[in-house]
Amino acid sequence: MFRPMMPYMWATMQSLFDPDGGMEALGPGAALLHGHALADGEALLQAIDAVVADAPFRHMVTPGGFEMSVAMTNCGAGGWITDRKGYRYTREDPDTGRAWPAMPPLFLALARTAADAAGFPGFVPDACLINRYEPGTRLSPHQDKDEADFGHPIVSVSLGLPATFQFGGPKRADPMKKVALHHGYVVVWGGPSRLAHHGVLTLKSGEHPLAGHRRFNLTLRKAL
Ligand code: SIN
Ligand code: FE2
Repeated sequence: MFRPMMPYMWATMQSLFDPDGGMEALGPGAALLHGHALADGEALLQAIDAVVADAPFRHMVTPGGFEMSVAMTNCGAGGWITDRKGYRYTREDPDTGRAWPAMPPLFLALARTAADAAGFPGFVPDACLINRYEPGTRLSPHQDKDEADFGHPIVSVSLGLPATFQFGGPKRADPMKKVALHHGYVVVWGGPSRLAHHGVLTLKSGEHPLAGHRRFNLTLRKAL
């Protein structure tokens, strides 16, 4: 016999069986898109491998002299770097002296569809920071503010092991939400949330079928 489901049951079933379906507001101008990149997961990881063959992951140093636990590289016209001189974007990889590898078309397409879904139509990033987290690594809360124009949103794609994202507001003291970021989830923040503080808690160990004991994150920005 057919029994109508209670709405909360429907919501639970949707998140279990239709991971591509959900969108959750994290604040004004900030959204979590469940599974938006899930279908492209394998292709995105392959594209990361191709970038890394040309611009290897490295542990950068903060202006204060601390080596970051998260390994980083970039693709696109601009790449985000930090060293003793400060945080900034460069057109060349300081480790190789060559231009950063081109942004894979898949990254551009994904950034656009995610930004569209979150209410920021026509987003065209020119910089993609690629982060690699191993168990025990973390990223302290910070604002993304090295870009030339804060009128553009940020699109952040999670791949591999799950992590806990902290997402607050423009003031350091604003309360931070904890958000589970699974493989294929995408966070978009812009407008009134563009300068929201955010960070990633220490990665727990685990094994992901496509990424092994790692988490990758793509941060797509219009930086230059
Ligand atoms: C970042 O803020 O640069 C990365 C965030 C993440 O890894 O989810
Ligand atoms: Fe960030």
